[in-house]
Amino acid sequence: MTSTTPKKVRVPDLALMKQRAERIVMLTAYDATMARLLDRAGIDLLLVGDSLGNVIMGLETTIPVTLDVMIHHTRAVARGANRALVVADMPFLTYQVSPEQATRNATRLFQEGGAAAVKLEGGRAVADTVQKLTAAGLPVMGHLGLTPQHVHRLGGMRQQARSESAAHELILDALALEDAGAFAIVLEAIPDTVAEAVTSQLKIPTIGIGAGSHCDGQVLVSYDVLGLFDTFAPPFAKQYAQLGQVIVRAAKDYANDVREGLFPKSTLSKQQTSDLAGRSEIPSLNDRALEELKGARAPVR
Ligand code: KIV
Repeated sequence: MTSTTPKKVRVPDLALMKQRAERIVMLTAYDATMARLLDRAGIDLLLVGDSLGNVIMGLETTIPVTLDVMIHHTRAVARGANRALVVADMPFLTYQVSPEQATRNATRLFQEGGAAAVKLEGGRAVADTVQKLTAAGLPVMGHLGLTPQHVHRLGGMRQQARSESAAHELILDALALEDAGAFAIVLEAIPDTVAEAVTSQLKIPTIGIGAGSHCDGQVLVSYDVLGLFDTFAPPFAKQYAQLGQVIVRAAKDYANDVREGLFPKSTLSKQQTSDLAGRSEIPSLNDRALEELKGARAPVR
């Protein structure tokens, strides 16, 4: 089923989608080409997640990801996205020091990166900051449950809100984020029943990852969905393709062709020559190219 929202997705659309019980679809994206493809597939939100630390940079945690790296990737995704709303993660310790620090850093993701919203991790501890950012016109998505930037405090990447009291605390955090003006909340790795309780108590949508089917939307890391990241596969992720295998096969075929002298072909066929030149008859492409190169300087790459 494709989205009923063919026009560009904007922040207020998400609350309307919740009201209409229309599921919200979000995937991560880190570059313009992938953003263009996912946008073409009708994905509603593209998250430039700090998970790029894992899948792009090969890091073990998201903690070393910097604001400059996030701006760099957000700019690329924003260039590739046409319909989808681009949300950029605020990386570790770029928003916790003070609301002023958060505003300064979030502004860079909007101005330099072209983000339409930012996401930050935490509940009541960051509610003041969320309030300041939204009041300044910077839309904020919250993130509760397993918050990877807190991996050391949490003692690993494990399911959260498992006890009644922890579930209660999480619901209070969600309500605080909503009151502070967050427009949606990611719920990561919490029991389905807790996600259901949060979703029913909030007016703003919840977007789940490893949080069951009762959330208003779902998000996954695109590299997991496409089978590109084989270092670690979270148990809740589903692979819809095995692109990693396709890439290895294609690269092997290419390597084989080069080694066997099968690529490139030594002479172009008449048809290929005319395609290149954009006309049907040319006397000799090589001679003409040589003429043009005479005296020309080597191109700067
Ligand atoms: O960084 C990320 O990709 C995320 C999603 C897993 C929600 O925060």
